[in-house]
Amino acid sequence: MIISTLMDDKKKEGSPLINEHGLSFHIHKEEYNILFDMGASEYFAYNAQKMGIDLNNIDLAVISHGHYDHGGGLKTFFKENKNSEVYLKPLGKYYRINDPLSPQEINLDIDVLEKNSLRLKYIRENREVLPGIHLISSIIQKYDSRQDNNGLYKMKNGKMVRDDFDHELLMILEEKDKIIIISGCSHQGILNMIETACSLFPQKHIKAIIGGFHLIYPTEFSQKNDYSTHIKKIGEKIAEYPVEMIYTGHCTSEKSYNILKEVLKDRLNYAYTGTVIYL
Ligand SMILES: [Fe+2]
Ligand SMILES: [Fe+2]
Repeated sequence: MIISTLMDDKKKEGSPLINEHGLSFHIHKEEYNILFDMGASEYFAYNAQKMGIDLNNIDLAVISHGHYDHGGGLKTFFKENKNSEVYLKPLGKYYRINDPLSPQEINLDIDVLEKNSLRLKYIRENREVLPGIHLISSIIQKYDSRQDNNGLYKMKNGKMVRDDFDHELLMILEEKDKIIIISGCSHQGILNMIETACSLFPQKHIKAIIGGFHLIYPTEFSQKNDYSTHIKKIGEKIAEYPVEMIYTGHCTSEKSYNILKEVLKDRLNYAYTGTVIYL
């Protein structure tokens, strides 16, 4: 299996690719090609072309959740690919509120969704969409991830409420004796994602976890020490699971990454734009 990072917030110095705040992975196996997320704009397609990946060959596309930095490239995807369906959970309107007077809309373009509704497949329960490819709709809530999602809201019955990320899904690629977990932002908590995968596949070890962990370091000085401890604990908990390799980036901030790295050492890697992972 070859997993190519078509988009991440960062790229390596000198890379000819374009980076933006967004995420996109291309997954190639003999039997299929999958696109998991599409970045925030058309740039994921530019990078795909530079990396020799033909988007028209995608058999299945997935949008991990309803934030623009994961599905912003949808319009471009429909232009480049004429066959593949796009799997996602039902989406709504989502906001980031830094200043209560000006909430920032961070959802997908509703127009693009409506115009291409025939190619959208909504996931409402866990489903094996192709042999060995599982889209997981219900995530076990064992660990509290609320403090990692401060400032993120959704519209519910005309009111803005804290987002519970019921629009988020997880992808698990099942192999003979192992699984690979692919997550967009892990808003519901990376530990809950791992816990869910382990409970669904208790006999299999985790070959790799790939995705953003939404561990954004808070700017308020008073919270900093507490937050470092919080991240360290997450790293220690991850280490308790049967996980071989981890590739993160995107919404795992640099500070959080460095704290996790101290705990997880060689098992943890950064998935820059252009990173190719052979599994
Ligand atoms: Fe994100
Ligand atoms: Fe997100």
